[in-house]
Amino acid sequence: MPQPAVEVVDDAPALARAAADVVAAFVAADPDRTVVPATGETPLGLYAELAERHRAGRFDASSLTIVQLDDYRGLGPGDRRSLYGWMDRALLRPLAIADDRVLRLPADGDPDACAAFDRELEARGGIDLAILGVGENGHLGFNEPPSAAGSPTRIVALTRATIAANARYWGSDTDVPTEAVTLGLRPLLASRRILLLASGPRKREIVHRALDGPMGDDVPASFLRRAEGEVTVIVDRAAWEPA
Ligand code: GLP
Repeated sequence: MPQPAVEVVDDAPALARAAADVVAAFVAADPDRTVVPATGETPLGLYAELAERHRAGRFDASSLTIVQLDDYRGLGPGDRRSLYGWMDRALLRPLAIADDRVLRLPADGDPDACAAFDRELEARGGIDLAILGVGENGHLGFNEPPSAAGSPTRIVALTRATIAANARYWGSDTDVPTEAVTLGLRPLLASRRILLLASGPRKREIVHRALDGPMGDDVPASFLRRAEGEVTVIVDRAAWEPA
């Protein structure tokens, strides 16, 4: 199994451009790819860069299938905290990707529906490209520690650390739902290609633990070292080197 390739770039704008080059080349080679796009702040520059290329007629995402990575559990329609809504604003609308091209997670996380989701994803041929960020506690999507490498799509209880980290999106800790539904590590690690993005000093420690520390359930991102496909990690200097 090849180890993740690490590319260190100067800063967040350089990270967005480098990631966009990878995504654009991957999609150009086959426009019918199945892509998992993370939400969160880290990939926003990448999505803006792709939107810019789309406007300039240099990137066509209309034939992609999009697979939802994660969401808070059981939000009502129109809830401002919906990560589907985040993905819609950041990626689907700017890239003119139709709603019916998205494989959505079961919002309530019903176990039978989650198992059916994993079967459906597998029947469609699995994930071609997963664009991921990493939580400061090592989560991928909402695969919180501890998560086994073979974990399926399921409901997870969010850790205190994640609730605190996500409070910056929504106001305060009490605005963050306590449960989520996440694509499991099993389907994620079976992706043909994984692009992990990390930016800023808050991610430095976890990036190094994931790549060089002990591999195990308590650092879900460490399992990227045993992913089935090619893994590329793009980090900016602040997420890689001591200040
Ligand atoms: C969030 C999301 C993840 C995201 C990660 C990092 O909680 N569930 O999908 O990749 O944490 O977020 P950010 O990029 O904002 O640091």
